[in-house]
Amino acid sequence: MVSRTQIGIVGAGPAGLMLGHLLHLRGIDSVIVEDRGRDHVIDRVRAGVLEQGTVDLMREVGVGTRLDVEGLRHEGIYIAFGGERYRIDLARLTGGRAITVYGQNEVVKDLIAAREHTGRPLHFDASDVRVHDIASDHPRLSFCAAGQPHDVRCDFIAGCDGFHGVCRPTVPTGHLRIYEREYPFAWLGILANAAPSSEELVYSLHERGFALFSMRSPSVTRLYLQCATDEDIAQWPDERIWNELRVRLSTHDGWAPHEGQITQKGVTPMRSFVAEPMQYGSLFLAGDAAHIVPPTGAKGLNLAVADVWRLACAMGEYYESGSRGLLEGYSSAALRRTWRAQRFSWWMTSMLHRSDDPNPFDHKRQLAELENLVSSEAAMASLAENYVGLPLG
Ligand code: APR
Ligand code: PHB
Repeated sequence: MVSRTQIGIVGAGPAGLMLGHLLHLRGIDSVIVEDRGRDHVIDRVRAGVLEQGTVDLMREVGVGTRLDVEGLRHEGIYIAFGGERYRIDLARLTGGRAITVYGQNEVVKDLIAAREHTGRPLHFDASDVRVHDIASDHPRLSFCAAGQPHDVRCDFIAGCDGFHGVCRPTVPTGHLRIYEREYPFAWLGILANAAPSSEELVYSLHERGFALFSMRSPSVTRLYLQCATDEDIAQWPDERIWNELRVRLSTHDGWAPHEGQITQKGVTPMRSFVAEPMQYGSLFLAGDAAHIVPPTGAKGLNLAVADVWRLACAMGEYYESGSRGLLEGYSSAALRRTWRAQRFSWWMTSMLHRSDDPNPFDHKRQLAELENLVSSEAAMASLAENYVGLPLG
């Protein structure tokens, strides 16, 4: 089946779905194609912290109704080390900005509902997804869905297909420069049916490694432990996980996470990755397709949203006035924000994780870094500004 659209969007994660929605609001047509099933896309457990700008955008574009009811606004976070917890007052330090805990899968659910309401195409379970002729101004998107082959002629293609997608690899060798760092540790994450025992997140550095207390709702706690990159989850029965969490998170004031039935377990690798530029011909990369940050700064989802907001503005300008100015500036502007997020995520990661290095210098330096952070208004303000997120523009 041969058809035509303005923007071919590969991937129905937060980047692809939000882009489709922003374009729709500007009257721009798109086809979204996703190789996984609808349930898989909705059910997979991912990030959960929305920056102020992400929340504002979701409200502004009409997908904030459930977020307003179910999202948990947090005006602070805790940093714990040496058995003490220190609160960083995000709202006071940033003129009232905050973060909102709302699962990425909930964001995706709301965006799918919005897409389905518009009646514009969204194909799940597609196979053989390919992009063609991206060096020209008449690229094509081909795939097979519901047993039917599709060939979609587009003006532009948005590669929103995540780190393992097909779009980035179609850029001819030599046109992308890759910047990458892998970390010698990973996160073991769980979801538990337990009421959160703190109203705000707790990031902890313990001698045995990093731990993070987070949540998804008033009855679901999300917790993470620093572990080895090749950690075998089978070696972590529930009791071992709770023991380790108790040791790494409990503070002298008697605080500890509430425990409950573990409903999900998984290991998350840690990587910093940037592909430059984020455009080649008529292909524009956005979100995890172009960059990965380690999860410590809670930036991945928010960066994806910032990319597609910028891309939608640029495409909007093109269709309104014929100008390619914003499209041509997309990559450098998006990369500027990406590198700010890379710096912040790397900094949070290196401050809070134990290395295997037998040289104790780094651990002492980390403790000094943490002491500096919690005793300096300037240092706390810097963390707060970055954590609640830089303005979208
Ligand atoms: N064809 C079609 N779709 C594909 C293909 C393909 N060949 N390869 C991957 N996809 C889909 C994936 O199944 C996924 O649904 O692209 C989507 C990419 O979504 P995400 O990985 O969620 O990436 P993105 O939308 O950029 O959102 C970034 O996701 O990984 C988290 O921490 C990250 O929160 C951040 C957010
Ligand atoms: C989460 O709740 O999943 C979460 C919170 C904060 C992070 C990373 C993940 O930095």
